[in-house]
Amino acid sequence: MDDQIELDKKGIQFHYDLPPEFFHYFLDPDLNYSCCYFQNTDDPLEKAAKNKLSLICKKLSVSKDDHVLDIGCGWGNFIFFAAENYGCHVTGITLSPAQIDYIEGKASQKGISHLIKARVMHAHEMNFKPREFNKIVTIGAIEHISDLERMFASCFNILKDDGLMLVHSMSIPWKNRKEQLAGKFSESMQFLREHIFPVGQMITLNEILRTMEENNFEIIDVENITDHYTLTLRCWLNNLQKKRKEIEEKKIVEPLKLRAQLLFLMGCVQAFKDNNVYCYHTLARKILEGSRKQLPLTRKGYCL
Ligand SMILES: C[S@@+](CC[C@H](N)C(=O)[O-])C[C@H]1O[C@@H](n2cnc3c(N)ncnc32)[C@H](O)[C@@H]1O
Repeated sequence: MDDQIELDKKGIQFHYDLPPEFFHYFLDPDLNYSCCYFQNTDDPLEKAAKNKLSLICKKLSVSKDDHVLDIGCGWGNFIFFAAENYGCHVTGITLSPAQIDYIEGKASQKGISHLIKARVMHAHEMNFKPREFNKIVTIGAIEHISDLERMFASCFNILKDDGLMLVHSMSIPWKNRKEQLAGKFSESMQFLREHIFPVGQMITLNEILRTMEENNFEIIDVENITDHYTLTLRCWLNNLQKKRKEIEEKKIVEPLKLRAQLLFLMGCVQAFKDNNVYCYHTLARKILEGSRKQLPLTRKGYCL
């Protein structure tokens, strides 16, 4: 196993293997740890979380006969939503064993283990069969994945010929990327590395699209969902601030972890406000020789 994979596993487990109970204190009940989707600025977080999953399923035209792969599946929110609402098969991969335990327990409680598989697997070494999936989704995970070239190349291989892929990802403006490439890391970046996410980096949307195109994906639709992330982060921060005392009293996590998470969420709200981070949905399909399958003709096919 290569050194990068070991480092990534340790880095991811550092954050995601904290007790799920901790995340329940500030995320929505299904533990979506990525930007939700608001139709009104005062929508409750829970509704915005469901909107996001429903929008992604619509963009991917998820149906009963699909087998969907979720790369970086977290605590399985997309997996459960797709399996329960569409009856399709869903496989999720994550680097956190604690998340796998959580998903397996919940699937068996709900009696839908036959539709759901969850594996500890790195996005760099996905050992699925060629054309095993009709759809691939990755929500808030590529920020942790260092070799996107490798990941998109395997996505092309494991996706069926008329398959679709949706990438929900953060990115940064070119001015910040230029500094990053010159080796300049801000204090907030160093804090993030030390206390929250030891692995990962953000790149520009242009680089993500280029890597997808270089791996023979045709870009179908791109939606900027940045403002939805600002709203999502404000909800998470409010929730954590309200529950701070209770988390301290019950000793859910170490005091330093709790303070670091509060600071992290405050920093994220500011970063989005200051135009230093963006968030996008990119829908794409495999480029193939031969005839094109008809997709929705208008953007109505890609909105709620
Ligand atoms: C921010 S969470 C998002 C989780 C989920 N998709 C959601 O929206 O709630 C990132 C997820 O990506 C997973 N992840 C990070 N790096 C990964 C990698 N190299 N291979 C597979 N999964 C990875 C983490 O374990 C975690 O489950």
